[in-house]
Amino acid sequence: MDGGSPAILPATLTRAPGSAPRPAPELSVVVPTYNERANVPILAERLAHALAGCDWEVLFVDDNSPDGTAAVARAIGATDSRVRCMRRIGRRGLAGACLEGMLASQARYVAVMDADLQHDEKLLVAMLNRLRSGDCDLAVASRYLGGGSAEGLSKQRARASRFANMLVRRLLGIDLSDPMSGHFMIRRDAFEPLAPAISSQGFKILLDILATKPGSLRVVELPSSFHQRRHGESKLDSKVALDFAALLTAKLTNDAVSARFLLFCLVGLSGLAVHLLALSVATQLAALAFGAAQTLATVTAITWNFVLNNMFTYRDQRLTGWRFVTGLIRFQVICAIGAVSNVGIATWVYDYDSKWWLAGLAGALIGTVWNFVVSAAFVWRQR
Ligand code: GDD
Ligand code: MN
Repeated sequence: MDGGSPAILPATLTRAPGSAPRPAPELSVVVPTYNERANVPILAERLAHALAGCDWEVLFVDDNSPDGTAAVARAIGATDSRVRCMRRIGRRGLAGACLEGMLASQARYVAVMDADLQHDEKLLVAMLNRLRSGDCDLAVASRYLGGGSAEGLSKQRARASRFANMLVRRLLGIDLSDPMSGHFMIRRDAFEPLAPAISSQGFKILLDILATKPGSLRVVELPSSFHQRRHGESKLDSKVALDFAALLTAKLTNDAVSARFLLFCLVGLSGLAVHLLALSVATQLAALAFGAAQTLATVTAITWNFVLNNMFTYRDQRLTGWRFVTGLIRFQVICAIGAVSNVGIATWVYDYDSKWWLAGLAGALIGTVWNFVVSAAFVWRQR
């Protein structure tokens, strides 16, 4: 799991001439960044202070921010090897960035914290000590424990956060004061086995970790203050509510219904409404022949679905520019084949058992699964 013991490495690798082997640091602090150029140097400085005397590194995982965050992190790393930067191209998303950063670490312990100075870096040493003591696998900074605070949240965000906490407690049975925290530290060997089940989509990586094998981790919570953001702005918008609902569903169904598939189906349902609307406009207002109107409505609905899926379902790998155009063409072709198989399956079921609704449902389901699986492979190619 740790990438191979020295015994299985070729001899040339075990004895690099002139340099003694340098063990991995004890702690990696993974910091996801998107347009945090002004915050990176301040955070690096603060970490150096807070973790003086510890064996640590910080790994900024940047999604190719247009403001040049990665270059700033690399410039610091050039003279301080404790500061590393991982630049992801063509991908977006907080959870995915954290996941990849955590997996890129060799350290015994891995922490996650935001770049924007909203989390308290002074808590890292306390978290580290708790993990070192061996009485827990995961330490979580809680805004809602006595002594903690959430001053950095707007009124509306605070209300949403409390509501989400309540849902998590009721539905997933996770009994933590702040399962939505973005600041935590975990033993890497406790994390690695869970990693394949963690969704790279969305923003709630801690919740995902907690919900993946409930009860398998020994968790402690430490009170912490969530400060106001100083520079830059929050990237979490109202779309995260959708991500949250999808993650809840995925975990409630034991990952049988993936968050992506759920979003894909929701988009498909909205496409149905668009289809009917377009059809009524085309037949009533434009007075097109039915066949032409139905074709037009179908193309419109598929285009609608493509745009929405690109915006929500695959927002971490959104296609832009030329790739948007070729993606749309591919999606049209895939969905056309999906429609043909939909009709084929439905007719076959209908011949077998003449319940119209059963046949219709079976056809629609197979068509949707086809569209989902094939477009995942040929339109939005990454996971
Ligand atoms: N690599 C990468 N990619 N980083 C991202 C992305 C992304 O798409 N989106 C956001 N980030 C980084 C930001 O740069 C910041 O360092 C951190 O993730 C948190 O993002 P914010 O945009 O500051 O989010 P927030 O302050 O609204 O949300 C925080 O608080 C929530 C609790 O209310 C986060 O810590 C959440 O994880 C937390 O749940
Ligand atoms: Mn923030």
